[in-house]
Amino acid sequence: MTTAPPIAIPPREIASVNLPPALPMTASAPLMRARDVSVFYGEFEAIKKVSLDIFPNDIVALIGPSGCGKSTFLRSINRINDTIVGCRVAGELTIGGQDVYDPNVDPVRLRRQVGMVFQRPNPFPRSIFDNITYGPRLQGIKRRDELEALVEDCLRKAALWDEVKDRLRANAMSLSGGQQQRLCIARALASRPAILLMDEPTAALDPIATGKIEELVVQLKSVVTIIIVTHNMHQAARVSDFTAFFYVGQLIEHDRTRTIFTMPAKKQTEEYITGRFG
Ligand SMILES: Nc1ncnc2c1ncn2[C@@H]1O[C@H](COP(=O)(O)OP(=O)(O)OP(=O)(O)O)[C@@H](O)[C@H]1O
Ligand SMILES: [Mg+2]
Repeated sequence: MTTAPPIAIPPREIASVNLPPALPMTASAPLMRARDVSVFYGEFEAIKKVSLDIFPNDIVALIGPSGCGKSTFLRSINRINDTIVGCRVAGELTIGGQDVYDPNVDPVRLRRQVGMVFQRPNPFPRSIFDNITYGPRLQGIKRRDELEALVEDCLRKAALWDEVKDRLRANAMSLSGGQQQRLCIARALASRPAILLMDEPTAALDPIATGKIEELVVQLKSVVTIIIVTHNMHQAARVSDFTAFFYVGQLIEHDRTRTIFTMPAKKQTEEYITGRFG
């Protein structure tokens, strides 16, 4: 059996530790390319032939009414859908030119390169330090100084360092919801992902914590490509470069966020963003 090459990811400055080398990529090539991607739950086609290119270091918002398939599409990118019995993906989805659904791609490795943050913060009930070092330790990083440098770097990138630097040994569950969500972002960054998937990451947070996460998302753009699902049109407009509007499993329109919010090409998009339906 041949082994597929690792998914090529652009060089990142996430951590100064010795992680596997990433292949360079020109900014003009899409980082993620979906072609006629359909996702089925049994016979039900939840995503219908979606084609979408996402370029490195862009922030892309996925919007659309409840049940239109945003989470389903997001979960197909890092194959979390694999864990759902009866779920099947058709079409072509590549990251850095590598077919994500090639049988030789290791989903665990893929999920390190395509990290995910969920609606509710889900830190491990361990220390802040352990939450961030869990993945890198599994990848073989053992040296204390390397792990400490990684923890500081990821917490700084997640805009949490100043708030927790004196209590890295405290249990992550003692943090506020907004802090826990930033810790989950720091934990995802520790694996040096090329793409960060965020499924309504502020839905469970108050407006202040939401504002911090939004600021953070914009800052992280320099180190990671972000695909964020949101029901909040203001959030999509504030943070994203591109917006993709989904409706009953179809990608209706995808364009620069400014265009989507000022001159959408499709009537359905306009009706949705102006709150006339959904
Ligand atoms: N595990 C599953 N098994 C069967 N059907 C599912 C499953 N998950 C989602 N679906 C169906 O697929 C469709 C898309 O669901 P999905 O959760 O992707 O929508 P969404 O756009 O993320 O909605 P929301 O905004 O409410 O989170 C819905 O009709 C939903 O009922
Ligand atoms: Mg959803």
